[in-house]
Amino acid sequence: MALRIFRNISTSKPLGARLYSGEIRKCTLIPGDGIGPEISAAVQKIFATAKVPIDWESVDVTPVRGPDGKFGIPQAAIDSVNRNKVGLKGPLMTPVGKGHRSLNLALRKEFNLYANVRPCRSLEGYKTLYDEVDVVTIRENTEGEYSGIEHEIVDGVVQSIKLITEDASRRVAEFAFLYARDNNRKKVTAVHKANIMRMSDGLFLRCCREAAKKFPDVKFEEKYLDTVCLNMVQDPLQYDVLVMPNLYGDILSDMCAGLVGGLGLTPSGNIGLNGALFESVHGTAPDIAGQDKANPTALLLSAVMMLRYMELNKHAEIIERSCFQTIKEAKYLTGDLGGKAKCSEFTNAICEKIAAS
Ligand code: NAI
Repeated sequence: MALRIFRNISTSKPLGARLYSGEIRKCTLIPGDGIGPEISAAVQKIFATAKVPIDWESVDVTPVRGPDGKFGIPQAAIDSVNRNKVGLKGPLMTPVGKGHRSLNLALRKEFNLYANVRPCRSLEGYKTLYDEVDVVTIRENTEGEYSGIEHEIVDGVVQSIKLITEDASRRVAEFAFLYARDNNRKKVTAVHKANIMRMSDGLFLRCCREAAKKFPDVKFEEKYLDTVCLNMVQDPLQYDVLVMPNLYGDILSDMCAGLVGGLGLTPSGNIGLNGALFESVHGTAPDIAGQDKANPTALLLSAVMMLRYMELNKHAEIIERSCFQTIKEAKYLTGDLGGKAKCSEFTNAICEKIAAS
């Protein structure tokens, strides 16, 4: 997997590693709901086998009612992430249309996790419609259509506000170019609809153009969202790093995941001003929760991204290689990959490879 270094956009220093000095590093773990606890346990077992120098601090993020009567993330969880600066998160259930705000959104806002990074790469040995896909989507994570500003004007008429700011657009654009440069990527594509949303997407695009000037070694292009969708399913190899506002990133990143085998295989990282939260992008899979059927790969590869963020590269490589080999051998595949193995059997197969390496 391509991800190597994450840098602070204002200082250009690597983000993860500089935050630590001791040998054993503490990481926050949010196991999550549904299959979350099972796949988190799988990752913990694999990390223990690989002797990763990490001490997990497990926290519950079930919302609690605060003094103002509103529900929010428990203070202990907030303190843990702020202290450790790095965490791994399983999926969280969001009740639909009950006035609840998405907990995932709340976490992104709370920790100012402004860039969502999703590398989508074809896995050797796991056949999909496309070979050699290797794209990275970088999504603005804090505003746009997901600002949560909605109201009813009169009966039957609602308004939802898409908020785009220069600060947020500039920092995600600069992050995309830094990421491209640090990971030997050749091109950044800004994905937009500035032909229709002239002011909001126009501002986003202007920030991308300005960032591009600071990175003359990285090629820059601008493409409409609809064109990118069409091109992506026809020939995904023409894209490299893509940067875009929130909603477009949400949709396009799932589409890219589909090109390489689905959400069960796709890792992601949410990079913030003071730390990062890595997470699998699939949901809680209530239909298979508690049955030892879940595929832990997405969470495991997110944890591997986290290790690279912390510059624990050797451990990252051993774990990643063992995971890819297990998938390639296809002896212990979970149901979503067409196999019959249980989550625990797949996990054990990875652990055996790690132990033998
Ligand atoms: P989902 O991703 O939970 O499930 C869709 C289908 O994919 C199901 O058939 C499920 O069994 C399968 N699946 C998902 N992850 C899998 C894995 N690791 N291994 C094997 N099969 C897997 O999406 P759904 O049903 O739309 O959402 C369920 C809940 O998850 C909702 O409450 C939703 O809000 C939440 N959710 C949370 C996310 C997060 O925390 N990042 C992201 C997406 C949904």
